[in-house]
Amino acid sequence: MGHAAFRLSGIVKDFPGVRALDHASLEVMPGEVHGLVGENGAGKSTVIKVLAGVYQPEAGQIEVDGQRLSPATPLSVHAVGVRFIHQELHLVPHFTVTESVFMGQERTARLGLAKREMRRAAEAFLRDALGLDLPGNRLIRDLGTAERKLVQVARALIDGEAKVVVFDEPTAPLASNEVDIVMEAIARLKAQGIAILYVSHYLSEITEICDRVTVFRQGETVGVFDTITDASAGDLVFAMVGRNITDMFPPKGSRATGRGLEISGLTDGAKFAPLSLSVGEGEIVGIAGLIGSGREEFVDTLYGLRRKTSGHVTFDGSPLHIATAAQAVKAGLVLVPRDRRHDGLVLPMTVTENATLATLEDNATAGIENRKAARTATEAQIQALDIRPPNPDAVTRLLSGGNQQKVVLARWLATSARIFIFDEPTVGVDVGAKAEIYQLIEDLAAKGACIILSSSDPVELQGVCDRIAVMTRGALVGELNAGEITVDDLVAATTGAASLAEIRDAG
Ligand SMILES: Nc1ncnc2c1ncn2[C@@H]1O[C@H](COP(=O)(O)OP(=O)(O)OP(=O)(O)O)[C@@H](O)[C@H]1O
Ligand SMILES: [Mg+2]
Repeated sequence: MGHAAFRLSGIVKDFPGVRALDHASLEVMPGEVHGLVGENGAGKSTVIKVLAGVYQPEAGQIEVDGQRLSPATPLSVHAVGVRFIHQELHLVPHFTVTESVFMGQERTARLGLAKREMRRAAEAFLRDALGLDLPGNRLIRDLGTAERKLVQVARALIDGEAKVVVFDEPTAPLASNEVDIVMEAIARLKAQGIAILYVSHYLSEITEICDRVTVFRQGETVGVFDTITDASAGDLVFAMVGRNITDMFPPKGSRATGRGLEISGLTDGAKFAPLSLSVGEGEIVGIAGLIGSGREEFVDTLYGLRRKTSGHVTFDGSPLHIATAAQAVKAGLVLVPRDRRHDGLVLPMTVTENATLATLEDNATAGIENRKAARTATEAQIQALDIRPPNPDAVTRLLSGGNQQKVVLARWLATSARIFIFDEPTVGVDVGAKAEIYQLIEDLAAKGACIILSSSDPVELQGVCDRIAVMTRGALVGELNAGEITVDDLVAATTGAASLAEIRDAG
């Protein structure tokens, strides 16, 4: 057998108070798609940053193509053809697509930058390798999350020198139809003999595209599985969390049915047509739709982040006047935003400060008593959501991606809101915590809250919701009863492969 594409062995990485990696090992062969899974905080992103030369480990060895790198530095690792698609997007909003793809690796012609050539190359790469038709002069800030992710991929691979490509949760921000685009790109890279390391919380993706998978648990390598012969998603879950998770979704309780939220003719005049929807008290209504379906804009408009041009919203028959997010919160309507890292968190603040931001009015007025109360409340939330480390005074920036998400959830769950909009609540969250979040949503509904769950995950929508409103191309095309449809039906409805009438007739 030839050299591993790369091999990490005996890696130890300490942060103040935490051993993030404890003699972890990881080996990926050329032409292999290798999965890396583990709970939030297991050390996945840290091991990637060690391979990237961003963190220097306390102990351990790094080899790329049989060659030991000591130390690994961002330059030396890049020079041997290792490329990274990090979990966070690092794109500049006012740059164009072409500028972003070639940032730091501009091509020059005799008289300066080869602008036209770069644009052609960027567009061709995005189209041919990633299946995305995107004009090179488009600004990053005008792109959706999925498009940005693919620009990030293009940027890492445009030089054609990649031998190893590391993807840290590439599909987390993507809709189901875009996941396929990434999968396809990965299959093409693999066919060229490039080694892929693929980190994801979506175990179905892992078993679908990976040849082998390594499982991390609390900084240690607890197993390497061959996905073809000896690992099902259930086996991986067991290795990750040390127990079986049989019921991902809580049983749907019988609910109070008050009048609740009534939306009629709401529109932003641009991205979605006038839309009417009701959500009774104690009801969980899903919003399904691909990126570009208007789902995100609808949710943002309801919460006052986008301007509505017409329509009105009532709660128990009384009008809600919401033109800003602050007014929404005051009216008892809260939104758990999809891009929690950017919209939701003040990273330099502690977990307690972040978790109590929404109830700050109560806390701010004062003193030690209230701050103690905030800390106690946060401790309860830390337990309920299994936030790790379980330290209310930890600085939020230092938490793993999934644990940061939970801090934002904690904040909104602490409010006494009557209407909750969850926008992609479980992106980046591990399986155990997912089940806990679904239970929390069910509990809120059981207490009579109106819940809107906007999600790109059809399994989640079908498992959690009572009713699901389907949006395609900027319009609500109808509603489905979750109990009467399958996950495949929902995929067919959101992609337009089947009409809602066809689905209802078949069901
Ligand atoms: N810069 C840092 N300073 C201090 N602690 C850190 C730092 N980066 C990570 N940690 C801690 O190291 C541990 C591993 O974090 P890491 O980000 O690698 O987890 P992960 O497996 O990527 O999780 P997720 O699935 O949530 O992204 C966590 O306990 C985290 O809080
Ligand atoms: Mg991570």
